[in-house]
Amino acid sequence: MVSTLILLFSTLIFLSTPPPSLAADPDPLQDFCIADLQAPTTVNGFPCKPSPNVTSNDFFFNGLARGGDTGSSPFGSSVVLGNVLAFPALNTLGISMNRVDIAPGGINPPHSHPRATEAGVVVQGRLLVGLISTSNVLYAKNLTAGEMFVIPRGLVHFQMNVGEEKALIYTAFNSHLPGAVVVSPTLFGARPSVPNDVLTKTFQVDQSVVDQIKSKFD
Ligand code: GLV
Ligand code: MN
Repeated sequence: MVSTLILLFSTLIFLSTPPPSLAADPDPLQDFCIADLQAPTTVNGFPCKPSPNVTSNDFFFNGLARGGDTGSSPFGSSVVLGNVLAFPALNTLGISMNRVDIAPGGINPPHSHPRATEAGVVVQGRLLVGLISTSNVLYAKNLTAGEMFVIPRGLVHFQMNVGEEKALIYTAFNSHLPGAVVVSPTLFGARPSVPNDVLTKTFQVDQSVVDQIKSKFD
């Protein structure tokens, strides 16, 4: 009898736990919830601005109309974020977008999004778009205007401008705050700094190499 109850209980727990492959931002329980970004506490999203204070302007965002300055980045690229922090109406809706501008020869460097799958469309230019699976296989292709790509959640990926003109991509995510872990500044520019011993051992190089790379991310 006791073992039947334990089996029943374990089955119920198993069935009520979504498998990781189905994990995404939770569904909203209301029409909208314009984020109150000043709220003192947040739990898995932001509290809603009171409905009487919501206006048409809350639902529109022109932040992706212009690109950032690709010249001020060592990577020759600029990512303008259209997530919940920039566009509070996305709060709880499970979607967001970015605008990525890349100068000729520039790169949106290898990074991953811990909370979202990414879909992108090339609007201008010619790009090498690549992603690396957890089996360490690189999948990459040159894309031009109108072509799309998808980056499964959490996988490391990059876009490099391999054309003569500037490149422009719009990307979309199934999270209102996908997050981004950019590999090189994460490891070499974290504060406090990742200990040198960790990096020399990890990359199988001398201290001087680690110092040189760290100096690029000061
Ligand atoms: C592109 O990879 C982006 O994260 O916007
Ligand atoms: Mn990305």
